[in-house]
Amino acid sequence: MSHASPLRIGVLGSGKGSNFAAIADAIGSGTIAAQVALVLSDVAGAGILAHATTRNLPARFIEPGKFRTKLDETAEAAFVQALREAGVELIVLAGFMRILKGEFLRAFEGRVINIHPSLLPSFPGLEAWKQALDYGVKVTGCTVHYVDQGIDTGAIIGQEAVPVMAGDTAGTLHERIQEAERRLYPAVVGAIARGEIQVRGRLTRGFDPARG
Ligand code: GAR
Repeated sequence: MSHASPLRIGVLGSGKGSNFAAIADAIGSGTIAAQVALVLSDVAGAGILAHATTRNLPARFIEPGKFRTKLDETAEAAFVQALREAGVELIVLAGFMRILKGEFLRAFEGRVINIHPSLLPSFPGLEAWKQALDYGVKVTGCTVHYVDQGIDTGAIIGQEAVPVMAGDTAGTLHERIQEAERRLYPAVVGAIARGEIQVRGRLTRGFDPARG
């Protein structure tokens, strides 16, 4: 799909929002032909909401409900409704720490992407940088992928490798991965906005990391 008008994106995050800030700034500078239609968080006071407010972008906290790792039914319906009302065409998960499935994915089928801090399929799940460090790999990185019903299993759009250095701690390695994330995620969102990504089953084509 190629867009005559800017792609309307909805961004979901639970944390400090550095990925969102990189995407918002790439949109602001005209590098990405998209518009942030809405930012949602399941964490009141999350940094991502502050990044949105500073940039005069619409942002809301929505109460996630009674579960710890997913949204409850009421919360899920509230997220879906808010994103629909905002006319969102692509959902960008940027450090959203709850698993989305069922109704949410059916509502936005094939239109949800996520960034994960490892080279998938290695180290899915939580604290992937720490998993990589503990395992002893010498190269890790980050992956942007479509979201399906599994955990970090959807079709891969783009990846960037990051070396593990002698003396790395979980903190230094995560910071180096996040630098790569701030390059990769805006580049992928830009490619989607230009209609360059084709998906067939779990194979995607069209992302050119050199284009940025
Ligand atoms: C990022 O490193 C992202 O890859 C990770 O959370 C961080 C959010 O940072 N996501 C996951 O681990 C998802 N399983 P940010 O709030 O600064 O963008």
